[in-house]
Amino acid sequence: MAGVMRPACTALLVALALAALAGSRAQRTTTYAPDVTDDVGGWRRGRATFFGGEERFLANFPDRGPPPEYGFGNIRYGSCGYYEQNGRQDVTYGNQVYPRNAMAALANNDPDYPGSCGRCYEIRCRSLPVIANGTTPYRLSGTYQLAAVAPNAADEHGRYYPGNPLYGQDAQLTRCWNATDGGEDSIIVHITDMCPCVQYEDTEHPSRVTGVNTPCCGDVYHFDLSYWAFERLAHPLYGIMMVDFRPLDCATHEPLTYLPGFVNQTLYGDRVESGWSFEPYRQHYSSFWSPWSGVDGHNATCQATGPDGGLTLACRECDRDGYRPFAQAGSHGALEFWTAPTPDMPQGIPALTVTLGNKGARQYCSSFNTSAIAPVNRRGNYFKFSLPLAAFQCPSGYGLERLDQVTFASNARGNVSYCLSMIALVANPADGSSLER
Ligand SMILES: *[C@@H]1O[C@H](CO)[C@@H](O)[C@H](O)[C@H]1NC(C)=O
Ligand SMILES: *[C@@H]1O[C@H](CO)[C@@H](O)[C@H](O)[C@H]1NC(C)=O
Ligand SMILES: *[C@@H]1O[C@H](CO)[C@@H](O)[C@H](O)[C@H]1NC(C)=O
Ligand SMILES: *[C@@H]1O[C@H](CO)[C@@H](O)[C@H](O)[C@H]1NC(C)=O
Ligand SMILES: *[C@@H]1O[C@H](CO)[C@@H](O)[C@H](O)[C@H]1NC(C)=O
Ligand SMILES: *[C@@H]1O[C@H](CO)[C@@H](O)[C@H](O)[C@H]1NC(C)=O
Repeated sequence: MAGVMRPACTALLVALALAALAGSRAQRTTTYAPDVTDDVGGWRRGRATFFGGEERFLANFPDRGPPPEYGFGNIRYGSCGYYEQNGRQDVTYGNQVYPRNAMAALANNDPDYPGSCGRCYEIRCRSLPVIANGTTPYRLSGTYQLAAVAPNAADEHGRYYPGNPLYGQDAQLTRCWNATDGGEDSIIVHITDMCPCVQYEDTEHPSRVTGVNTPCCGDVYHFDLSYWAFERLAHPLYGIMMVDFRPLDCATHEPLTYLPGFVNQTLYGDRVESGWSFEPYRQHYSSFWSPWSGVDGHNATCQATGPDGGLTLACRECDRDGYRPFAQAGSHGALEFWTAPTPDMPQGIPALTVTLGNKGARQYCSSFNTSAIAPVNRRGNYFKFSLPLAAFQCPSGYGLERLDQVTFASNARGNVSYCLSMIALVANPADGSSLER
């Protein structure tokens, strides 16, 4: 096992064969429009596949790849980094922060892909003919048909394949589970990974296939659900289904606007907030959410690292129009955060270097060192810092609108453990600046 010494990268495969989503025979199909489209709370039409799964089920398809994944990918190393990270240890289902039946990847072709890490979507299955692209029906010929290979494979609840009424027409109608079958009208998933249109070789995880993930490349909005999320809506032997979806506030389940997709100006509240990936590096230990360990009894993220470790929070592709969380805070805005040593460490201000940057382009601004600047507030063992965004000197062409990440790096000589709490981009800093004391 290669371990997790650097931020997770693209981490999944689509369950279906990588070929032949785009059908050749053009044929008009009835369009079953979702209820509402443009209003907040309106449902939109999309499509879903699955990745990962129970070995017992996946083992029915030994020709797809080696065990235990059988070419279906795994959900444990989602590229949003939403798991508890213990140095070099393997990441298990137990390390995941969200239930495995509520996890999904978003296709990076989807219009609201920027800042999708952590965002929540409500998803309904629709018993409709599956669409490949545009209005072209999804064709069975040329695809890997799970139902043809193992028609009697039961899901985790012992349910059998309800059949495909369009089989004779080389098309697929996925029958959603209904209440009688123990199905759910809708489920809510957290985005924990991406489904790249083009997947590149990953030297850390050589078992993964490279190539084009066709379902994540077309013009149909696409989710890659975890196997366990998929089977809440339909039998996994279908492999693909039509869905309706809408983005929701993860906490209140109130609907959110679809475009631009929601990105929280708070990067870390009681969890890594919607919009942001969690990328500890060279860590001995890193907690996604240590309960009650933050300022005022909030959750905190705590890191134990050597001298060259740290934590990056990034809003993926958020330099795109409509996103730009740093520009939203504005030129008078600030990056604010609270930090404290863990109880086993000497009291005082953790020695951290804070910098901003652009993840995709690997461009970084000047940094500030907590040992050389002043806290603007203190509560308990927590110190608050407020760094004016305008004070960071960034490479030419990387103004606030191009920035999409914050990094906290240890600048201690040896091992250190510290917590970070309430990390936010604010437009109107209330407590003054850490540079003016
Ligand atoms: C999908 O269909 C659109 C037209 O609706 C077309 O422009 C595009 O090239 C198609 N993409 C693929 C991958 O077939
Ligand atoms: C549920 O779906 C099954 C087929 O999948 C069907 O036989 C049954 O009539 C449906 N029940 C209801 C209440 O719609
Ligand atoms: C944004 O973050 C704040 C602070 O943690 C949280 O209270 C709020 O629920 C978040 N909003 C959404 C829509 O997720
Ligand atoms: C705080 O963290 C715990 C896990 O340690 C989690 O169950 C809980 O949901 C978090 N609280 C909030 C408000 O997110
Ligand atoms: C941080 O600032 C302190 C105090 O000015 C200094 O001793 C230390 O070398 C600085 N560290 C880094 C990594 O800049
Ligand atoms: C730093 O922590 C690591 C992991 O806990 C440990 O193996 C190492 O011995 C520590 N180094 C020092 C100098 O304490």
